[in-house]
Order: sequence, then C-alpha cells, then structure tokens
Amino acid sequence: MSAYPYSLSFIFLCFLFRSFFVSDAIVPDNETFHYVNQGDFGTYDSEYAPTYRALPPFTFPFQFCFYNTTPNAYTLALRMGSRRDGTVMPWVWEANRGKPVRENATFSLHSDGNLMLADANGRIAWQTNTANKGVVGFAILSDGNVVLRDSKGKFVWQSFDSPTDTLLVGQTLRVRGGPFKLVSRESVTNNVNGVYSFVIEPKRLALYYNNNMRYWSSTFPELNRKNVTIVNATLVVVESEYEENNFHALRCKLENGQLYEFPYLGLGTVRYNSSLSYLRLGIDGNLRLYTYRPNGRGDAWSLLYTLFDRRVDEYPMIFEDECQLPNRCGKLGLCENSQCVGCPKPNGVFAWSKDCDTKPPGCKVSGFRYYELKGVDHFTVKYTTGIGVVKRSDCESKCTKDCKCMGYFYHTDKSRCWIAYELKTLTRVGNSTHLAYIKTPLR
Ligand SMILES: *[C@@H]1O[C@H](CO)[C@@H](O)[C@H](O)[C@H]1NC(C)=O
Ligand SMILES: *[C@@H]1O[C@H](CO)[C@@H](O)[C@H](O)[C@H]1NC(C)=O
Ligand SMILES: *[C@@H]1O[C@H](CO)[C@@H](O)[C@H](O)[C@H]1NC(C)=O
Ligand SMILES: *[C@@H]1O[C@H](CO)[C@@H](O)[C@H](O)[C@H]1NC(C)=O
Ligand SMILES: *[C@@H]1O[C@H](CO)[C@@H](O)[C@H](O)[C@H]1NC(C)=O
Ligand SMILES: *[C@@H]1O[C@H](CO)[C@@H](O)[C@H](O)[C@H]1NC(C)=O
Repeated sequence: MSAYPYSLSFIFLCFLFRSFFVSDAIVPDNETFHYVNQGDFGTYDSEYAPTYRALPPFTFPFQFCFYNTTPNAYTLALRMGSRRDGTVMPWVWEANRGKPVRENATFSLHSDGNLMLADANGRIAWQTNTANKGVVGFAILSDGNVVLRDSKGKFVWQSFDSPTDTLLVGQTLRVRGGPFKLVSRESVTNNVNGVYSFVIEPKRLALYYNNNMRYWSSTFPELNRKNVTIVNATLVVVESEYEENNFHALRCKLENGQLYEFPYLGLGTVRYNSSLSYLRLGIDGNLRLYTYRPNGRGDAWSLLYTLFDRRVDEYPMIFEDECQLPNRCGKLGLCENSQCVGCPKPNGVFAWSKDCDTKPPGCKVSGFRYYELKGVDHFTVKYTTGIGVVKRSDCESKCTKDCKCMGYFYHTDKSRCWIAYELKTLTRVGNSTHLAYIKTPLR
C-alpha cells in the first residue's frame, strides 16, 4: 500500500528528469542564431520595391530578409534570385503577413528549438511553436523549403506547410490537415490578406472572391464519373521527351492514391530544367506561374502561365478571359474580350471609366426598381450552378427581400437564378437568354 505512491512519484521523477533532459538546449550552440533588424539597407531590386535588409541565412537562390513597403512595418520573408539576374527578385515565402515588426525586431532560433520573430519590445509576431520538440537544426533547402530538423533528419516544421500567396515546386496543398489555400496580398504597399483565395477542395481547385464567390474552378469530369476525390495538389515538374527534345512540363499535380492516371492542371512547358518556379495568386486575383533560370543575362525570370489571359486556348492548358476576374472592371463594368466596354446605367450603357458604379438602392422595397441588361453574366455565373429551377419572379423577390442584394442574374433557358451582393465585372455573353437585373433607387 505504501509502495504505491512511492513508485508513482519515482516514475514521475523519471519523467520529469527525462523531459528536463530533452528540453534543455538540444539545438547545438553553433546552430542557434539571433538576428536583429537594424543596419544598412540592401540595394537590389526586389518585388514591391521595398527597402530591405538581407540576413545571413542563404541557400542559392533563396535568402532571408526583412523588407518594408511602408515605413517601419517589416515582413520577414524569403527572397528568390540573385543580384546577377539583374531583375526584380520576388518574395516566395513570408512569416508574418498582417503582423509587421519594427526596427530592432529579432529573428532567432532558440536553443529549445523554437524559431521566432519578435518585435523590438519582445512581443512575438510569429513563431513555429517547436520548443522542446527535438529540433537540432535549421536549413533553407535548395527548393526553398525552410525546415527545422530533428536528429533523425525528420522535418519538425517546414515553411512549405504555411504558404501565403505562393507555391514553389514541391509545395503541396492538402484537403485534410492543410494547408488548404493560398490567399492574395491586399496591395503592393499593404501586406495583409487580400480578397482572393485559391483553394483545394475534394472535387476541384477553385478561386474565390471574398471567401464565398467562386469565379473559377478546375473542371475534372473524370473525378465525378469515377466518384473519387482529391487528396492533395503539388506543384511539380515532369520531364518528357518529344521528338528527341527534352521538355519540362509544369503541372499542378492532383493525387488521391487510388486513380493511377489522375487529372492535373497543365501550366506550361519549357526546354530547360525549371525546378525553380513558383505559382502566385496575384493581388488582382489572377494565377501566374514564373520560372527561373539564372544565366547572368538579366532575363532569369519568365512568366510562363497566366490563367486569366488574352490568349486563345492552347491544349492542354486552361485559359480564361480576363473578364472572368471579379475586379477587371472595378466596381461595375461590362466586359468583353478582356476589355471593359461599357458602364451600365438605368437609362442605357455608357462609356466605361474607373468611376462606373451603381447608386445604393436602399432597403425600402418601395424605394428601388430593377433595370434589365440582356446577354450579360455575373463573374460567379460561369463556375457556380446558382439556384433553380425557379421562376424569374421568385428570383427577383429573393433579391428584393434581401437588403444586401445588389441585383440578380437569370438564365431563362434553364430557369436558374444567381443573387449578387457585389456586381463588379459583368461579362457580355451574346446570349439573350442570360439576363441581369440591377437594383437602382427610384427618384
Ligand atoms: C555545427 O557544428 C557541427 C559539429 O561540428 C557541424 O557538423 C555543423 O555543420 C555546424 N553547424 C553550423 C551551422 O555551422
Ligand atoms: C535599435 O537598437 C539600438 C541599440 O542596439 C539603438 O541604438 C537604436 O536606437 C534602436 N533603434 C530604434 C529605431 O529603436
Ligand atoms: C461516392 O463516394 C462517396 C464516398 O466515397 C460515397 O458516400 C457515395 O455514395 C459515392 N457515390 C456514388 C454515386 O457512388
Ligand atoms: C498526396 O496524396 C497521395 C495520396 O494519398 C500521397 O501518396 C502523397 O504522399 C501525398 N503527397 C504529399 C506531398 O502530401
Ligand atoms: C533540376 O534542377 C534541380 C535543382 O537544381 C536538380 O535537383 C535536378 O536534378 C535537375 N533535374 C535535371 C533533370 O537536371
Ligand atoms: C445560349 O445559351 C444556351 C445554354 O445556356 C445555349 O444552348 C445556346 O446555344 C446559347 N445561344 C447562343 C446564341 O449562344
């Protein structure tokens, strides 16, 4: 009876001793670091034209830097490229979007294994939460993945698991466990989350405006036919030979471990080893792929793929007209062949300018009416099914009752209805069965 508590406390002591042992300074001294955001600025051109300070961690062509586009609001980020490229170097990973740090902030790997960005006053802006998890070292790998390793070489943490708006080759989005998505940057000067996201879902890859308005999705009929779901999507380079030439195909490779021939998103082909490439969800909601080939001639970067483009379709790549971009024509505009061609008003269509907008209709049902546009679709129409089958009058009353509804879209041939909370870019489709009804105040 008396031995019981004794052995229990003995076990407890052993445990305490062991955890003490494990937690105490397991990162060798020469692997820890502590960098302070102070000193001279670098002079090479970087994306968003910031001032920056380069830090020692560097693995060609990736380098850690503090950069700021607004004074004294720094982002800790990984830059890609070299000064010999003579071109603007992009930021391909960042630690602290939306949580900028100031002069004298510190970036450090502590001996307990936690990687941390702290502001000058000690406030933690970002950390990996890897204290006492067996971390023995830090490295930037040659593919741009920043990793914290344990003694067996396993990654306790990797930057590839926390993307913002950029995927490097080898980086993965996952339906379960994440990362689920890329989120755009608000503007060149303001590094906070923007309105666009690129999301992996069981049946599709999709682009959203304001989290819920889908303006594009990949269509994989095979997935639905065979009733299989996507597990992950990885940016990969696939080597192929065609007429005795070597090609490197860039793809967004989808997997689920069941289908042998799973569909993929083709992003272009180059004749050189393009393993240093990245996919970016832009400030404008467009998806672009850039490839990198250092050659000392100043043209190391090339834009290989743009989802919303003015080009015609080229198998097997997918292109969309720019009119499918929610913000192509600002707050309101009719769009045709990637151009903003008109500003709809209750009394007709006028020339488009950036000021094109609707008047707030107000909430009172007796205070507004609708005006009709023929042959026009909302940016959400092409990739969503809408509501239906419904009568147009039911579609209208849905919008009328909803104070936030700015207008509705109706296809008379299929009796389908879309409610729009923001109008933005309206696409001319040249099909008179596609109708738009825009709310406008009565006066
Ligand atoms: C730290 O020291 C170990 C053993 O001498 C060595 O293997 C390792 O490369 C060193 N790490 C750094 C970052 O210099
Ligand atoms: C940063 O710290 C140094 C001392 O290490 C101090 O001299 C300097 O004024 C600080 N800069 C700012 C902007 O606080
Ligand atoms: C499709 O798969 C899901 C889950 O894997 C299953 O619940 C569903 O019944 C399947 N549907 C068809 C039509 O086979
Ligand atoms: C993606 O999913 C497949 C199938 O489950 C799996 O075999 C593969 O390891 C996954 N890849 C990554 C990078 O997670
Ligand atoms: C492409 O480059 C990467 C990294 O530089 C390298 O690991 C890979 O082996 C290269 N592939 C070919 C086919 O040369
Ligand atoms: C209009 O759209 C319907 C289906 O939405 C299609 O069947 C029809 O061919 C289209 N008409 C024109 C002129 O494009």
